[in-house]
This record gives sequence, structure tokens and C-alpha cells, in this order.
Amino acid sequence: MLSAIVLALAAAAQAAPAPAPASNVQGSTAFSAPAVHNANFIRNGTAAMLKAYAKHNLKPTHEMPEAFMAALAKRQDGSATAVPSDGVEYLVSTVVGGQTLDLDFDTGSADLWVFSSQLAASSRSGHAYYTSSKSSTYKALSGYTWDISYADGSGASGNVGLDTVQIGGTTVTNQAVELAKTVSSTFVSDASDGLVGLAFSSINTVSPQQQSTFFDNAQSSLDSPLFAAYLPFNADGAYDFGYTDSSKYTGSITYTSVDSSNGFWEYPSTSYKVGSTVHSLSGYTGISDTGTTLILMGDSAVTAYYNQVSGASYSSSQGGYIFPCSATLPTLSFKIGSTYATIPASLLNFGTASGSSCFGSLQSVGSGSQNIYGDVFFNAYYGVFDASGPSFGFATIA
Ligand SMILES: *[C@@H]1O[C@H](CO)[C@@H](O)[C@H](O)[C@H]1NC(C)=O
Repeated sequence: MLSAIVLALAAAAQAAPAPAPASNVQGSTAFSAPAVHNANFIRNGTAAMLKAYAKHNLKPTHEMPEAFMAALAKRQDGSATAVPSDGVEYLVSTVVGGQTLDLDFDTGSADLWVFSSQLAASSRSGHAYYTSSKSSTYKALSGYTWDISYADGSGASGNVGLDTVQIGGTTVTNQAVELAKTVSSTFVSDASDGLVGLAFSSINTVSPQQQSTFFDNAQSSLDSPLFAAYLPFNADGAYDFGYTDSSKYTGSITYTSVDSSNGFWEYPSTSYKVGSTVHSLSGYTGISDTGTTLILMGDSAVTAYYNQVSGASYSSSQGGYIFPCSATLPTLSFKIGSTYATIPASLLNFGTASGSSCFGSLQSVGSGSQNIYGDVFFNAYYGVFDASGPSFGFATIA
């Protein structure tokens, strides 16, 4: 009898948490959410590289500088860094359970997570944060956790609840909201109070059951099942949901089929041009990632590009290619499906590295064969993420 009770208790403890209630969506069928340019954004190329390498678990092919590795280690301590390193360029005001947060919209991940009252006070200083007890619509998801810890120990993790999330004119009820209990120093020093992942829900990190992204939940009510990123250089932009805004681009939108099997907005990207010279990059794909700052490509492309920049060299102290700020840069084009996107020379100078040397916006993606097209690409193109297909479209930014 006693052993039966013990067994029953053990079975109850093992039982999987109940599935989350279904989400529901109300509000407009097409809306634009302003993406405010962060005035405190710091153009630090090394920091942008670190963030991308950690996020995508990239394997360096170049000798990485001591400083790079030291910075990686430093990011593990969970406290604010002495070096200002705010790497989030655009922020979208989002209301979670009645509380307003400035979030980073990231098409390269699929978790909606927020700074929460469970964080140490030192970790949330300078941030708005979410307090579940102040929300009348919050429902805890008992036993659910999330974790975006990276190989280098940076990242964030915590527990999960459901709450009402309002972005622009659309409200999703029972949206999975992931509450941070720990965040690494990179997130502490960034301006964003969390992320809205807009990649495919198949890479959502909630356990034991993956949760749907805001876009997946809102999709059925949108005029068209798509959203578009408008991120003009050094200026305010927007995320348009349910429609494309022809005032934000010129010409027409070129669409390419997306292979979502890795959870990303991914397509073949098998050749590139430095100026007008065509080169093959066979076997490569590209992903559209608004949560990465730079353009990261295979080494052969990076080498071919900087061979055409007078005075360019790889800097092991900066962790990337640098060149004299006065150098004349060629344009860079790469294929998205079968159409070239061209990044103008002006966008390929990311900013000062040190003294009179500048950091390139194009850098190595390491040993993988998945190029990453980040915000520098979106400074040149209006990007459309269309779930029907799915497909990715782009048109020259207005
Ligand atoms: C840029 O970021 C790196 C890595 O976080 C840091 O070591 C470096 O000091 C920063 N540079 C400046 C000029 O702030």
C-alpha cells in the first residue's frame, strides 16, 4: 500500500506539465510597429562580432585575439561591464501584461523573453522589467523553462508564463512570455529589455513543450501572413505586420523560397560580386537576421572583398578586417536565391575601430556555410518575411 502511494507520487512528479492554453488574437489585421533607432547604439565591430559568434555558435577560422576570448569570458559574470557595449540598434515598444518594454525584434531566434523582477537588481538596473504579480492576465506555466545559453556561457534563461502581448494594433492573449532569471552582461549593457523572436517556432527553446512566436500566433488574423522589416541607416524604422508599405521601398519586391528546416529565414546564396566581378560560393545559404548587426560570409568572399581594399588587413586585436578610414570601398553583392542584393560602399564601413582605422561591415562567418545577413543588409533593403511559402522578399529601401 505504502509503496503504491510512493509510486503514484513518483508518477505524479514525473508527469509532463499540462499543455499551454491556446492563444487568441484581437485587433487590427495590418499594422506598423515603430522601430526606434537607439541613440545609445555603439558601433563597436568587435562587440558585434562577439555577439554574433556567441548567438550562432560560430567556429572561428582566424586566430582570435586574446581580447576577443577575454571579452567572451567576461560576459559570463552576469554583471554590468565597465566597457559600454550597447549593441542593439532598433527598439520596439511592446506591452506585456500592461507593462511597457523596449524589445529587440530578432528574426534569427524564436523566443519572446523579457527582463523580469526575478533578476538580480544589478542585472536589471537601467532596464524596464516585467513583474508577473502586477499583471492580472498572467498565468504561470508550471514546470516550463527556457534557456538561450550559448557555448561561451553568455545568454539568458528562466521560467515561462502566458500573458497578453500587444504590439502595434494587435493583441495576442496567452502568448508564451519567457521571464529572465539570469542574463549575461552583454544583455545587461544593451538597451533592450528583452527580445521578440521572429524566426520559426521550431527553434523556440521552451521546455518541455516549444511555444509559438508572436508572429505565428498573430498570423491567422493578419491581412497577409507576413511582416516586413524597415531599418533605415541611423534612423527610425518600423516592423509592418500583415502588409508591405510601398512608401518604404522603391521598385518591386523580389521573393525567394525559404527553407525553414533549420528554423531560420534561409535560402541559397551561392555567388557574390566584389564590385562587378562575380565569384562562386557554392554550397552556401544565407539567413536574414535582424538580431545580428554585421554581414558575415564565408572566408573566400571576405578575402576576395578585402583584396580589393587598399590597406585592408585582418586585425587579431580587433577580431576582424580593418582598413584605413579613407579607403575607397567596392560594393558587395550576394545572391538571395537567384537575385543579387547589392550593399553600397558607404554601408560597408561599419565605423572607427581605433585611430584612423575602420572596421568592415563584412566579416568572416567562420567555418560554417550559412552566411548571416544582418542589419547592414536591412539598412539597404526593405525585407519581407512571408509565412506563405514560406518566402523572403527584398526591395531597395526608400
Ligand atoms: C568594443 O568591444 C570590445 C568587446 O566587448 C571591447 O573589448 C572594447 O573595449 C570595445 N571598444 C571600445 C572602443 O569601446
